[in-house]
Amino acid sequence: MLYYIGVFLIILNCVTGHNLQCDKIDNNNRFDCFPEYGSNQEDCERRGCCWSPPFGLKHNSNINTPYCYFPSDFPDYQVSSSQSLDNTLTYSLHKLNSTFRQKEILKLEARIVYDTKNRLRVQITDATKKRYQVPVFNNNYKAYEKMKRTDDTDYQIFVNKDPFAIKIYRKSSGRLIFDTSVAPLIYADQYIQFSTRLVSKIFYGIGEHQDSLAHEADWNRYTFWNRDIPPTVNTNLYGTHPFYMSLDQDGTAMGFYLLNSNAMDINVNPTPALTFITIGGIIDFYVYLGPSPSEVVAQHLDVVGRPQMPQYFTLGFHLCRWGYFTSEKLFEVIKRNRAIRIPYDVQWTDIDAMSQRLDWTYDKQNFSSLAQVIADLHAHDQYYVNIIDPAISNTPGYYPYESGLRQNVFIKPLNGSEPLIGVVWPGTTVFPDFTNPNTSVWWFEQAKNFHNQIPYDGIWIDMNEPSSFVDGSVHGCAGNQYDKPPYVPKVVGGALSSKTVCPSAQQHLSNHYNLHNLYGHFEAIATYNALRSIIKNKRPFILTRSSFGGTGQYAAHWSGDNRATWEDMYYSIPNMLSFNMFGIVQVGSDICGFSGDTNEELCVRWMQLGSFYPFMRNHNDDVSRDQDPAVFGKVAQDIIKKALLTRYTLLPYFYHLFYRSSQFGETVVRPMFFEFVRELPTHSIDRQFMVGPALLVTPVLEAAVDHVVGYFPNDTWYDFYNGHQLDISKGQYINLEAPITDINVHVRGGYVVPFQHPGLTTAQSRKNPFGLLVALKQNGTNKCAFGSLYWDDGQSLSSVDEQVFNYFNFMADQNGLTISRVRQGYDAKMILGHVKVYGVDKQVKMVTINGEMYDNFVYDDLNLVLEIKFIQVDMLLNKFISIFWS
Ligand SMILES: *[C@@H]1O[C@H](CO)[C@@H](O)[C@H](O)[C@H]1NC(C)=O
Ligand SMILES: *[C@@H]1O[C@H](CO)[C@@H](O)[C@H](O)[C@H]1NC(C)=O
Ligand SMILES: *[C@@H]1O[C@H](CO)[C@@H](O)[C@H](O)[C@H]1NC(C)=O
Ligand SMILES: *[C@@H]1O[C@H](CO)[C@@H](O)[C@H](O)[C@H]1NC(C)=O
Ligand SMILES: *[C@@H]1O[C@H](CO)[C@@H](O)[C@H](O)[C@H]1NC(C)=O
Ligand SMILES: *[C@@H]1O[C@H](CO)[C@@H](O)[C@H](O)[C@H]1NC(C)=O
Repeated sequence: MLYYIGVFLIILNCVTGHNLQCDKIDNNNRFDCFPEYGSNQEDCERRGCCWSPPFGLKHNSNINTPYCYFPSDFPDYQVSSSQSLDNTLTYSLHKLNSTFRQKEILKLEARIVYDTKNRLRVQITDATKKRYQVPVFNNNYKAYEKMKRTDDTDYQIFVNKDPFAIKIYRKSSGRLIFDTSVAPLIYADQYIQFSTRLVSKIFYGIGEHQDSLAHEADWNRYTFWNRDIPPTVNTNLYGTHPFYMSLDQDGTAMGFYLLNSNAMDINVNPTPALTFITIGGIIDFYVYLGPSPSEVVAQHLDVVGRPQMPQYFTLGFHLCRWGYFTSEKLFEVIKRNRAIRIPYDVQWTDIDAMSQRLDWTYDKQNFSSLAQVIADLHAHDQYYVNIIDPAISNTPGYYPYESGLRQNVFIKPLNGSEPLIGVVWPGTTVFPDFTNPNTSVWWFEQAKNFHNQIPYDGIWIDMNEPSSFVDGSVHGCAGNQYDKPPYVPKVVGGALSSKTVCPSAQQHLSNHYNLHNLYGHFEAIATYNALRSIIKNKRPFILTRSSFGGTGQYAAHWSGDNRATWEDMYYSIPNMLSFNMFGIVQVGSDICGFSGDTNEELCVRWMQLGSFYPFMRNHNDDVSRDQDPAVFGKVAQDIIKKALLTRYTLLPYFYHLFYRSSQFGETVVRPMFFEFVRELPTHSIDRQFMVGPALLVTPVLEAAVDHVVGYFPNDTWYDFYNGHQLDISKGQYINLEAPITDINVHVRGGYVVPFQHPGLTTAQSRKNPFGLLVALKQNGTNKCAFGSLYWDDGQSLSSVDEQVFNYFNFMADQNGLTISRVRQGYDAKMILGHVKVYGVDKQVKMVTINGEMYDNFVYDDLNLVLEIKFIQVDMLLNKFISIFWS
């Protein structure tokens, strides 16, 4: 009897399942109604959703076309009333009945804020009860510029009343750029879901993931829950940045940022559309109108905060490894790299330098001479950075633990009065709660005490997802609705507690469930504030593995525990380009690879590529072979040295880009499409990249080749090294010679790139004469090039605010170059020593500098390069310097 009833019900559901509202939806427009594992027809139809096997199943991405999908008439919210005040539209939303999620919230409030001309904000919250919300970190954030709702915005908003949906159009083109009407809004206590249509099949951002730069809108999923794991595709990694950018067919860019710190999935379908599923907090997002890719990033960084200006030495070469094991070995490595005259600024140590892996200690046996080694580094104008993990050993008598207990700084389990205990490198540990104001004070004290013994110059904060070697805690987790939420995003390990602390654990601001993705971010802030006080008036240098939107204000980032493979070398490029969009511009990957033995060819090519990372560090693990430059053969050493000298030569240009980034939210390294958005091939290129607007880098990313194919947009390109101009009249792929001796770099016509003769440290370089690389570009019957240079002491916190810097503009045409000093605020020796001009197509017979004849020049009539050497002109003496050639 029961059996027959069952069959009857299924048949009935089949019939209702195949109603018109299901059939109207084609495969590509299915929005998954069953994102959990193990969907089946019965459970699907019980949700009020449609079930049918899709046609033409795809297997090329990590999810398939869903069998279970929303019908077009799935119950949704409707607007019951609306209100308009100043720059804000407020809508009361309600839904008559719950559907299938637990604790659905039936009354919502949606606020649409007309923020600026090119930016708007949408918040959707529980209308009756306050929910957890991400705290505001960006003190410079301007909520809105006293906008009038209808005036002067490049967006127009349409709100559909039943069902509730938001559509945003770009006024200037009339194009729909954001549209939530594609799928229902679901808003439950621990399950929030909404979707939007994308303007194109390709989108960018959505980190931190091991992926290409451009993501194709096909069935796919990106999960966010900060996690200690070697970078792996289709896996949640160390940081959370739910920001995407997309390019419309007219070449305009738009961006979107979901300000939410809970565990999250972003599902992609070929509509093209994205579905955001977050299991807490509120819906709070920004839409950026650009219209250029760079403007989208700048608008985003206005929200999350722009990167800090780095200390100059941090742009030099950093060397690190886990497994020096003794300070004698450490010193030997330093000396052998000095001996071969490798440009090199910063030496690091990893956890093997700690005493029993305890934070804020060093091994007094094996690293007994650490303080002397650091003194020696300092005497050579080099610097030292050490590693600190957040987890604190709970060994009785260990001062950081005892003092932390007294100040109540550690995370506690649900309902517990004693700290939650996990396991990290030193054994059992407790975890500081950096959201507690006491913790910053306590952290500062630990950092200060240690600095008195070991005068480090920067701190590397690792393991701050936070990572733990047991799931949840040594006592497991309470098992409440936060440890076992009704829906778990597709995190590696299957549970939120996997390799981290219990989601139910209590922190000062909220539970770990809400704050997990902010752990590294809060630690970066506490560490930044500690260093500001300890190393007075200098810009703190912090390297963090875990990150969130805005972490770039406090810290640099590297891509974590990569491998010594060509594939991982490639992934370093999309990673650093994406992080430049997220506002953490000082970024790079472990050069030559962190795990596994590297080999000479890979390491040489990688050091060349790494010379163009905004953050350049060679680092590996404790069991792999040495990979510092000095261990390779003489030929390899010379090539590495040449790459490093090129980097040190270009540091004034890099520094200027960092200045632009800190002031205007620009990227330092950027995808080619940022500069050439109208050339379609650039939209998916991530095996080449640009440093600022003027340099195009085309690395070799595979073994045993002597050519590399690069795309060159329709512009003027010169070989960086010899000034030879590429002969192109349209955007095209070029098969370049790529001997291992040099990495291919091209300089773009129209730009003046400032440089400096390199020393073996940045301190030495900074005393050397400057040079200008002028790359002329045809403009009508003339040729021209422009550039600028920001220059300060390379360390003070207040250089920009107090205007203690010098600033120059460079303007060149086919007959000469003018240097204008537009600001003189920093007292330094700045000598112009060298000018190289690419694209001088007439034989040069005479050069004058400030009206006087100058003889020391060479004209290369093969490559059309004019080189003026040994100039010795003080750049600060006069407001203008003019150089003419004829
Ligand atoms: C919604 O719930 C009410 C009871 O709260 C019920 O009377 C009504 O039939 C339900 N409507 C639908 C469409 O399920
Ligand atoms: C100290 O150095 C010795 C010699 O290199 C090494 O065998 C030992 O493992 C080191 N001890 C620690 C704790 O790293
Ligand atoms: C900060 O520490 C003091 C003891 O030093 C303690 O009384 C207080 O409760 C702590 N505050 C917080 C927010 O934990
Ligand atoms: C924690 O405490 C709350 C309120 O004191 C109680 O309702 C809850 O059952 C406790 N949870 C556990 C897992 O002990
Ligand atoms: C390439 O650029 C040049 C100079 O701007 C222009 O004259 C030419 O039409 C462009 N070619 C193509 C194919 O766009
Ligand atoms: C090209 O020349 C024109 C006219 O001389 C000038 O207005 C324009 O700014 C120049 N363009 C560039 C990129 O220098």
